[in-house]
Amino acid sequence: MSKLESIKCSFCEESAITIINYAKLRLCKKHFIEFIQKRVLNTIERYDLIKNNWKVLVAISGGKDSAVMLHILSNLSKQLNFKIIALHINLGIGKYSENAKYNAEKLCNDLSIPLILLDIKNIIGMNLLEIKRKNKRPICSICGLLKRYFINTIAIETKANVVAIGHHMDDLLSYVIKNFILQNINEISKLGPKTETKELFIGRIRPLYEISEKETSLYAFIQNLPRVEESCPYVDESSMEFEIKRFLNNMELRNPNFKIAFARALAKNINFYKKEEEEIKKCIKCGMPTSRDICAFCRLIEKTIGKSINVKNELKEIIEKLKVV
Ligand code: AMP
Ligand code: FES
Ligand code: ZN
Ligand code: ZN
Repeated sequence: MSKLESIKCSFCEESAITIINYAKLRLCKKHFIEFIQKRVLNTIERYDLIKNNWKVLVAISGGKDSAVMLHILSNLSKQLNFKIIALHINLGIGKYSENAKYNAEKLCNDLSIPLILLDIKNIIGMNLLEIKRKNKRPICSICGLLKRYFINTIAIETKANVVAIGHHMDDLLSYVIKNFILQNINEISKLGPKTETKELFIGRIRPLYEISEKETSLYAFIQNLPRVEESCPYVDESSMEFEIKRFLNNMELRNPNFKIAFARALAKNINFYKKEEEEIKKCIKCGMPTSRDICAFCRLIEKTIGKSINVKNELKEIIEKLKVV
């Protein structure tokens, strides 16, 4: 018998499956699920993430984190009166992307949530690996740029009020420390529980802001959520973020509540990190927000395929087919 099986849940007679040190609770499956859902509800209320009647575009990667986020938001959507549309971008990274797409579709099907499925090969004519071959930029940087651009464009075209992103507390805090070390101070201002909408940049919310990676994994496992188990093949586990995550977990072991206290303090001071506003222009090719005349996406596309493309027309068709606007 494992040590935990002999320990009772703090709220019922069932055996505890986990101990939440920072809350001094031992929880069975049912009470763990309730505890996490309640924490996300509190996060939404504490940071005013979603307003009545809003349309929330939930970006799902096919992995566990965004699956947990979608599952919890879908549970809360009636209570808080908001609508959900999910978005999955198929990047075309071989088997990994096929798996991610399969799981994203299955999850939305199970939850009866409309899904916008966007295949970058259909829009750009090349998948991520083919685009990478034509560019010197690191693959993850190209991938991030494409995802940001498509997520924002779809948010505008579907008239979403906000985009929900599945970063959890450990992701966010490790990025904060990494950006502090590198002195990318303005980047820290984008890592709080929300980033506000500004003209053509649709705001982001991070409902898992106070949920740890371990809690996210356990929730996905107990609920048996469709998800890809493996990470993207380009994730580098020797990177600075992973080292920082280990440091944060060690600190949490010695001082339960360390991570949540850090996250809350950061949220309180987030405006402190904001740089003076740069002038935001409209890209002369596609009309999306940019600090230059031509946005980073249009520059990448022109360099890669030698011409610009009208993404909005392509996306309109996809969105109209779904009748989700
Ligand atoms: P990452 O940047 O891969 O750590 O992912 C962070 C978040 O971005 C995820 O939790 C999702 O909300 C979103 N995301 C990542 N990949 C995709 C994708 N292929 N399609 C849609 N959203 C994604
Ligand atoms: Fe984009 Fe791995 S998910 S490079
Ligand atoms: Zn219980
Ligand atoms: Zn552009």
